Amino acid sequence: MIDLPVISDPRGDLTFMEGNNHIPFDIKRVYYLYNVPVDSERGGHAHRELEQVVFALSGSFRMRVDDGRNKADVWLNNPRKGLYLRNMIWREIDTFSQGAVCMVLASHPYDEADYYREYEEFIRDV
Ligand code: TYD
Repeated sequence: MIDLPVISDPRGDLTFMEGNNHIPFDIKRVYYLYNVPVDSERGGHAHRELEQVVFALSGSFRMRVDDGRNKADVWLNNPRKGLYLRNMIWREIDTFSQGAVCMVLASHPYDEADYYREYEEFIRDV
C-alpha cells in the first residue's frame, strides 16, 4: 500500500502524488472507472511489463490479486491509500459500492500486447 500525504484544513482535505516520488514510476497514463454497476466484475487480466497504482477516489471495491503463487484480497476505500501492482499480477475487481470511482496510475501508455487475458497463459509464464 502507498500512503499519500494529506493537507487538511477547515476547507477540506488535499492529497497529492508525484511520479518517481510518491508513485514509484514515471506516470504515463491515468484512467478511472466510474458509473460502475455494483455487481460488475472488472479486471481479469495481468500485465507483462505495466506497473500500476490503484486508488478508490470515492466509495470502495475489492481487488483480488494473484502473483501466480499467492492470492490476497485487498479492500480499497480510502483516497489516500493506493495499491501498488508490479508487473505479472493477475487482478480482479468486484464488490463496487454505489458511486465508487477507481483511479489507476500507469507506467506506460495503453498497449493491448502487454495484457495476459488468459489465466492459464499467465500461470505458464509465471
Ligand atoms: P480493460 O483494461 O480490460 O478494463 P478493466 O480491467 O477495467 O475491466 O479495458 C477495457 C477496454 O478499454 C478495452 O477494450 C481496452 C480499453 N482501454 C483503452 O483503450 N485504454 C486504456 O487506457 C484502458 C485501461 C483500457
